[in-house]
Amino acid sequence: MAYPKPAPDHILIEQTPSGLRRWCAARRRAGETVGLVPTMGALHEGHLALITALHAAVDRVVVSIFVNPTQFALGEDFTRYPRTEAEDLAKLQGLGVDVAYMPTPDVMYPTGFATEIAVNGPLTQGLDAIARPGHFTGVATVVGKLLLQAMPDVAAFGEKDYQQLQIIRRMARDLDLGVEILPVKTVRDAHGLALSSRNAYLTDDERQVARQLNKILAKTAKALRAGTPGPEACAEAAQSLLEIGFSSVDYVAFADSDTLKPLAQFEGAGRLLAAARVGNTRLIDNIAVGNIETEL
Ligand code: PAJ
Repeated sequence: MAYPKPAPDHILIEQTPSGLRRWCAARRRAGETVGLVPTMGALHEGHLALITALHAAVDRVVVSIFVNPTQFALGEDFTRYPRTEAEDLAKLQGLGVDVAYMPTPDVMYPTGFATEIAVNGPLTQGLDAIARPGHFTGVATVVGKLLLQAMPDVAAFGEKDYQQLQIIRRMARDLDLGVEILPVKTVRDAHGLALSSRNAYLTDDERQVARQLNKILAKTAKALRAGTPGPEACAEAAQSLLEIGFSSVDYVAFADSDTLKPLAQFEGAGRLLAAARVGNTRLIDNIAVGNIETEL
């Protein structure tokens, strides 16, 4: 990967909202634009693509690393979520990131914390909003807090988490946060598997199965373009996933790219989204379904 900026001697680590706010305000007073990449760490090339895209859009880049407890349900992988702080900081430094913002849970959620941001409407009536109840309220609340703490000009989010991206766009508009949300294409390995911090959980055999997810989505997109009705194409895809070794399928859905409302038929555009488990590891992926095969 090309480094957009020479590596600085050191990267500034901020751990409190007031410290971050002071730094960002000083940059803005100096006439510079500030960008934010919210992450939960265990950084990989997908995260790094967000940073590179932001470097091209703003003068200064802040990356937050915070494994947000409120977006994990009980029994999900919060405690075993990969934490690789030292490696993460080395990567950020190598990419010329100005600030690593690493608040602790008690700073983000002090005793008595009682406010939530809940995005309602069609965006949270299906897909992961059903499969992971409460997840997006946790995400919207923490991202809302991070955006208010940094008040960046631009914040980058990956299309890998497509429903999350649309929900954050909605929230930023609805709350007049005055931030531009920059979407970044999904980064994949050589086999098309979308990079994810959770891929670290996969055994070699599971990885072989996981690599079929994007292939089945691409095949399903073709069927949709050829006129197969949405529900039928998605049911077939779910069946194929189970047949090739996925342990369970939360959903395969064909939906409007903006509202995420289910589509009965392909009529020139749409998004195909899936969530499925290999062993105990939950994977999500999605592709654009357009008139030409540009999705992967
Ligand atoms: P995390 O999973 O660490 O992802 C941080 C950002 O990186 C998200 O915007 C995500 O969509 C993006 N990303 C992850 N994998 C990617 C890939 N393969 N290609 C492109 N972008 C990718 O998403 C979260 O954290 C959290 O929910 C967060 C927004 C930080 C709130 O806690």
